[in-house]
Amino acid sequence: MGLFHCPVGAVMKGDEECINCELCSASTKEERIRSTQIIREWLQETEKERNKNITIFKIAICGKGGSGKSTLTALLAGALEQLGYATFIIDSDSSNGGLWKKLGMDGPPKPLSQIDEKGVDGDWFNRSPMISTNFVEPYVKNQGLKSLVSIGKIEDPLEGDAREMGDYAKEIIRHMVPLDKEIILVDQEAGVESFGRGIEILCDTVLIPVEPSDESMELAGKIKYMAGGLGICRVRAVLNKVEDEEQEEYLQEALSQMDVRFLGTLSNQKEVRLRNMRGQGFSSEFCYETAGTLARMMLDEAQMKYKK
Ligand SMILES: Nc1ncnc2c1ncn2[C@@H]1O[C@H](COP(=O)(O)OP(=O)(O)OP(=O)(O)O)[C@@H](O)[C@H]1O
Ligand code: SF4
Ligand SMILES: [Mg+2]
Repeated sequence: MGLFHCPVGAVMKGDEECINCELCSASTKEERIRSTQIIREWLQETEKERNKNITIFKIAICGKGGSGKSTLTALLAGALEQLGYATFIIDSDSSNGGLWKKLGMDGPPKPLSQIDEKGVDGDWFNRSPMISTNFVEPYVKNQGLKSLVSIGKIEDPLEGDAREMGDYAKEIIRHMVPLDKEIILVDQEAGVESFGRGIEILCDTVLIPVEPSDESMELAGKIKYMAGGLGICRVRAVLNKVEDEEQEEYLQEALSQMDVRFLGTLSNQKEVRLRNMRGQGFSSEFCYETAGTLARMMLDEAQMKYKK
C-alpha cells in the first residue's frame, strides 16, 4: 500500500498507527463513507491530544482563488521575522509560482518533487521527524529568517495531475517539526480539494483570507467545516482587500453568522497591488507595518512571546 493512502500515517495495515478504518481496502462508495466516518471520529477524539499545546507550529493558509493567500503568507512571514520568529514556508500550490518574489528571494527553490537519488535517499519524503535544516540548496531558498520550499509545479501538458504533489505536501507537513522560534506556513492551493484529501491534517491553525465577495465568505464557512472535520480547532479569517468600514462590518457580521472567528483586517492597498504586479518582494519592515498587528494577535492568542 502506498503511504499516502493512509490518512492517519500508518505505513501498513495493522501496524502501530493503523486505526483499522479499512479505507485502504474500501471498494464501494458506502465502504469509503464508513471508513471516513471512523477517521473523523478518531480525529475528533484525538484532537485534544494532538493540539494539547496551544502554541502555533503549523499554519495552513487556505481560501478562494485570488483572495490573497500568497500575499498573506509573505506579509506574515516578514512580520513574524520582525517579531523574532523564523518561518519555514511550504509552497503547496502546483500552479502559481510567484511566492519567492513576494518573499524578496532571488529565485525559486527547486521543487521537492524533483529530488533525485543523487545524494538524497529515495525514502526522503518519509523521514521522520524532518526539520528545516534537512533541506539544502537548491531545494530551499533562504532570506533573512525565512526559508521557502516548493512542492512542485505542473509545467507541461499531459504531465499528470497534482495529486502526487499533494501527497508529498501531506507527508512533509506531517513529519516537519519546527525548531525553536520557528513557525511553518503552508501556502495552499485555492479551494477545498486539499481538505478533501486531508493535506492539512496535522496543521494546528488554518488562516483564511476573505476578500469582499460572497463566494469568498461562503468558502470560508466551508473551510471551517472541513477543518473541523480534520480536528483543527483554530480557524481564523483575515479580511483582505477591504476598502472601507462598511465592507469590514458586513464581512465581520457574515463571518460571525457562520461562526468563523476573525483575526484582523488587511486593507486594499495600492502598494501591495503594485508590488505584486511588478513581481517585487515585500521588505520585512513593510510586512510589519502592514501585517504586524495581525501577527501579534496570532501570537498573543497562542501566548507566544515576541521581540517588539
Ligand atoms: N491587501 C491587498 N491589497 C491590494 N491587493 C491585494 C491585497 N491582497 C492581495 N491583493 C491582490 O490580489 C491578487 C491575488 O493575490 P494573491 O496572489 O496573494 O492571492 P492567492 O489567494 O494566493 O491567489 P491564488 O489562488 O491564485 O494562489 C494579487 O493581484 C494581489 O496583488
Ligand atoms: S486501515 Fe485505515 S488506518 Fe489502517 S492502514 Fe488502512 S487506511 Fe490506514
Ligand atoms: Mg497563491
